[in-house]
Amino acid sequence: MGSIDNRLAALAGSHVFLTGGAGLIGRQVRAQLLEAGASVSVLDNLSAADRDTYALCGVNLDSPDLAVGSVHDTRLVAEHIARADYVVHAAAHSTVAGCLADPDTAFASNIAGTETVLRAAARSPRLKRLVFLSSAQVYGHGSASRTHEQVFTEDAPAQPLNLYASAKLWGEAQTRFLLNHAGVDYTVLRPFSVYGPGQIPKPKAFNWAIAQLSMYAAIGDPLPLNHGGRQVRDFLHVTDAATGILHALTAPAASRQTLNLGAGRTTSIRQVAEMIQGHFPHAKITDGASSAQDPLGGRADITAMAEALGWEPKMTVADGIADFVTWLHDTPAAIPGWLREEGGAQRLAAWRAVDDTARAARS
Ligand SMILES: NC(=O)c1ccc[n+]([C@@H]2O[C@H](COP(=O)([O-])OP(=O)(O)OC[C@H]3O[C@@H](n4cnc5c(N)ncnc54)[C@H](O)[C@@H]3O)[C@@H](O)[C@H]2O)c1
Repeated sequence: MGSIDNRLAALAGSHVFLTGGAGLIGRQVRAQLLEAGASVSVLDNLSAADRDTYALCGVNLDSPDLAVGSVHDTRLVAEHIARADYVVHAAAHSTVAGCLADPDTAFASNIAGTETVLRAAARSPRLKRLVFLSSAQVYGHGSASRTHEQVFTEDAPAQPLNLYASAKLWGEAQTRFLLNHAGVDYTVLRPFSVYGPGQIPKPKAFNWAIAQLSMYAAIGDPLPLNHGGRQVRDFLHVTDAATGILHALTAPAASRQTLNLGAGRTTSIRQVAEMIQGHFPHAKITDGASSAQDPLGGRADITAMAEALGWEPKMTVADGIADFVTWLHDTPAAIPGWLREEGGAQRLAAWRAVDDTARAARS
């Protein structure tokens, strides 16, 4: 974040309760809050990775400010919120594939856990604001165009396509309902594709293009591009995501708003691959599955976000990829064993098999 923005001065001396604070976004939010002079207590059940991986990503598992536990532990959550001036609720079973694979955990963490946090927040006389991290997944595919990029404004219809997204949509509605009723201030944020150091791909999760393709390149595997890499995403570097979250805690105009959190520009997966190739000149870009049915993707309209937060993301995707690659060079152990073992040829075959199945289903 560099020098502290004066508009974040309200955070100095305050206490922030951060759920999911050991995760990708939470770690950066915690670091920036400390830099802004706040004290932070983290509640995280460390379910997103093994302990070695958390340690590799800079989480001090012995920190007295880290409570290892779940957001559906009513007593623990109530104790933390009673001491907090602000809450950032970032804990979630946080991937679409993870929620599909384990809907019970998704339900417990993303719905029951969110209810626990919101109820405790609604009872707090000292809370200044709660920020709930929803997701751009609530928009689904928009109009699902295969030829036109989507621009998602906050009033676009919600079309959640999976449990992860529908739980986020429910969390948004419940935040508004419970906290409006209790007179407690809140902001709902819908992050787009957040990436950055410490993002470690999970098996069968194909949505973290920058991390995945960088790791393939680092181990000398080809970079397979689905549908020629035409698909676009709104990539937001994790430092920008965290700064946006800090502004959402403090900006007066963000009160009771639901806002996109994105960079407001699209980058195609091919452009990402080519930028990664700039760091690994030996890396070969190959054709993966064609998946002609996949929508092109899109970006956030950040007009409302910029106006309410008085802030816009700073980092270009090229700089963000350079930052990720530097971290990867310094932290080669972050490349998961399964990703190394999978091998380029096997990966390509698996992607093509998915594509063949999709084609057969269409014919
Ligand atoms: N990364 C993205 O691109 C992105 C995009 C949109 C929304 N979000 C949302 O932002 C938030 C943070 O995402 P992230 O990328 O840092 O994910 P992450 O998986 O890295 O971090 C989430 C953290 O929450 C913790 N957690 C999960 N269930 C918990 C429970 N029951 N109790 C306590 N802690 C629990 C996990 O252990 C993990 O450390 C999530 O709510 C996610 O859904 C992320």
